[in-house]
Amino acid sequence: MLQDILEICYLIASISFILGLKMQSSPDTARKGNFIGAFGMGLATVATIVVVGFIENSSLINFIIVFAGISAGASYGMYESKNVKMTGMPEMVAIFNGYGGLASLLISVTEYHNSLQDGGVPTMGFLISLCLGILIGGVTFTGSLVAWGKLSGKMKDFTLPFQQVINVLVMVAILVLCVLVVIQGGGTWPIIISLAALSLIYGLFFAMPIGGADMPVAIALLNSFSGMAGIFAGFLINNNAMIIAGILVGSSGVILSIMMCNAMNRSLMNVLIGNFGKSGAGAAAAGEQVHKEVSAVDAAIMCNYASKVIIVPGYGMAVAQAQHAVHGVDKLLEENGVDVKYAIHPVAGRMPGHMNVLLAEADVPYPKLLELEEANNEFKTADVVLIIGANDVVNPAANDDPSSPIYGMPILNAHEAKNVIVFKRSMKPGYAGIENPLFFRPNSSMLFGDAKEMIEKLGQEIKKL
Ligand code: TAP
Repeated sequence: MLQDILEICYLIASISFILGLKMQSSPDTARKGNFIGAFGMGLATVATIVVVGFIENSSLINFIIVFAGISAGASYGMYESKNVKMTGMPEMVAIFNGYGGLASLLISVTEYHNSLQDGGVPTMGFLISLCLGILIGGVTFTGSLVAWGKLSGKMKDFTLPFQQVINVLVMVAILVLCVLVVIQGGGTWPIIISLAALSLIYGLFFAMPIGGADMPVAIALLNSFSGMAGIFAGFLINNNAMIIAGILVGSSGVILSIMMCNAMNRSLMNVLIGNFGKSGAGAAAAGEQVHKEVSAVDAAIMCNYASKVIIVPGYGMAVAQAQHAVHGVDKLLEENGVDVKYAIHPVAGRMPGHMNVLLAEADVPYPKLLELEEANNEFKTADVVLIIGANDVVNPAANDDPSSPIYGMPILNAHEAKNVIVFKRSMKPGYAGIENPLFFRPNSSMLFGDAKEMIEKLGQEIKKL
C-alpha cells in the first residue's frame, strides 16, 4: 500500500517535470513551468522521505538528519538564486550542475557500501550503473567547479603539457578499473576509491583547456552529464522519479549543446579544445578602411522619422545593463508611430537565451522579438537598425568571407537595412576576435560610448523632437 502511494507520487512528479519543461519553452509560461517542476521535485522528495521512512521504520534521528540536510541545502539554494545577478547566471548553473554530479557520486559510493553489507551477489546492471554513476558524477563535479571558477574570474585557462595524451591515459585507467569492478563482481574499496579519484581528476583535465567564453556550451554539456549521472544513481536506488528527471536533464542538455554549436557553426570537439578565434585567418585588420560616426542627435532624427526600426541586442547590452533604457527608447518611438522590433540571434551574449532573459526583465513584450529567420526577412524593409553591443552575430564576413573563422555561422543580416547605427565603445572586435566589415559599409555609422549612456542620450534627443 505504502509502496503504491510512493509510485503514484513519483508518477505525479514525473508528469510535473515534463509539463514544467514544456512550459519553460515560452517566456509567457516559463515562470509557471518552473513552479510546476519545483512542485514535482518537492513532492518526490517529501514522499520518499516519509514513505520510505515508514516502510523501513526509520528512527527519529534519521528524519532529523535528513530534514536538517534539506533545510541547509534549500536555504543556500534560495539565498543564491535570489541574490544572483543576471550576468552571474552561467556561474550559478555551473555550480548547481556540480552539486548534482557530487550527489550522484555519493549515492553510488553509498550503494556500493550497502551492497557489501547485504552480502548478496550484485547484478551486472548494478555494477555498470555503479561505475557510470561514479565516473559521470565525479567528472561533472570537478568539471563544473572549473567552469564556475573560470566564469567567475577566479581561475585562468590552464593546460598541462601533453594535456590530450594525459587525458587519454586517465580515461584508459578509468575504463580498466570499471572492467575490474564488473569482472570481479563488485571490486574492492581500493578500486572504487581509485575510480572515484580518477573520475574527479578527469573532470579537472576535461574542463581546464576550454576557453572561458566557450564555457556556456561546456556548461550545457556538464548539465547533461549531471542528468546522466542522476539516471545511473536512480537505477542504483531503484527510484523511478530520479531516473525520469535524469533522462529529462540529460537529453535537454545534449539538445541545448547541439543547438548552440549549430548556431555558432562549430563542432562540439572544436569548442572542447577551445581554439576559437585564435587563428589569424579572416581577421583582416581595419587597415585603410574608414568608418563614419553619428551623433545622438542625428541618430534620434533618423529613428524618429523612420517607419520601421529593428534593434539588435548583443553581449555589450548585457554588460552595460542597457535593456531598460532600450525599452524606454522603443516606447518613445512606438508613441511616435514607429514600428519597433528586436532581432534575436540564438548565441547573442554569453549564455543560452541571454537576450530573451534581459529583454523580458525590462518588460519588452515577447511578440516584438524576432528569431533569426524572421528577422532576416525583415531587415530589407527596415529604415534603421540599432545594433546595441553586438558584433559577431552581425558580421557579414560569416556570409561572404570563406577565410573567416566564423564563415558559415548564421548571422543577422542587419547590413541589408537602409541605415545601420552601431552602439559600442571602440572599434575593438567582439568575442571571436575578428574585424567586422559591417562597420565600414556606406550605410553604417558608429555611435561610440557605453551602451546604456548612449541609449539614454538617444531617448533624451527623441523627446526633444
Ligand atoms: P560580441 O561579438 O562579443 O560583441 C560584443 C560587443 O559589445 C563588443 O564588440 C564590445 O565592443 C561591445 N561592448 C562591450 N561592453 C560594452 C558596453 N558597456 N557598451 C557598449 N558596447 C559594449 O557579442 P555578440 O554579438 O552578442 O556575439 C556573441 C558571441 O559570443 C558570438 O561570437 C558567439 O558565438 C559567442 N558565444 C556565445 C555563447 C552563447 S550561449 N550566447 C556561448 C559561447 C560563445 P567595445 O569593446 O568596443 O565596446
